[in-house]
Amino acid sequence: MNIVNSSIAKDSSQRTPAEDTLKKTPKAACLIDLPKITDHRGNLTFIEGNRHVPFSIERVYYLYDVPAGALRGGHAHKKLQQFIIAASGSFTVVVDDGRKRRKFFLNRPHYGLFIPHMVWRELENFSSGSICVVLASEVYEESDYFRSYKRFLKALK
Ligand code: TYD
Repeated sequence: MNIVNSSIAKDSSQRTPAEDTLKKTPKAACLIDLPKITDHRGNLTFIEGNRHVPFSIERVYYLYDVPAGALRGGHAHKKLQQFIIAASGSFTVVVDDGRKRRKFFLNRPHYGLFIPHMVWRELENFSSGSICVVLASEVYEESDYFRSYKRFLKALK
């Protein structure tokens, strides 16, 4: 499993091909390459749950019209797994597993960031007009959130 440690995935060698993630669910946040059908009429990327992302997709939501300088996220999840895609534009996702902070820059729709449960995340530096699509393994449940970083760290112990 090729887990990305660099802040920017400059090339596909820093990303895991989608189907490899199913052999063993990644324990850390990592970039996953999605299938891409190149076509002169426009490219197409598709995602199937339990095939290209290592969970069943129970919910999809998206962030859009994000004003310059806004911060999103700022929480961790007890159980939820997510896959984040820059469907348009770009933004940075900071992930923190309580030991290490890493930054991932997302700027293309044919790859995304898998975030396992119990990982703190912050989303920042949204470009104008960007769209952040999130695939989630569970339906929305507020009780699944850690919204306090202190409580998140405590729960990891
Ligand atoms: P939140 O998850 O904190 O947003 P982000 O991580 O993108 O900054 O959610 C913001 C608000 O939206 C919060 O009041 C909960 C609500 N919400 C739902 O009702 N359903 C959902 O699926 C999501 C993701 C959020």
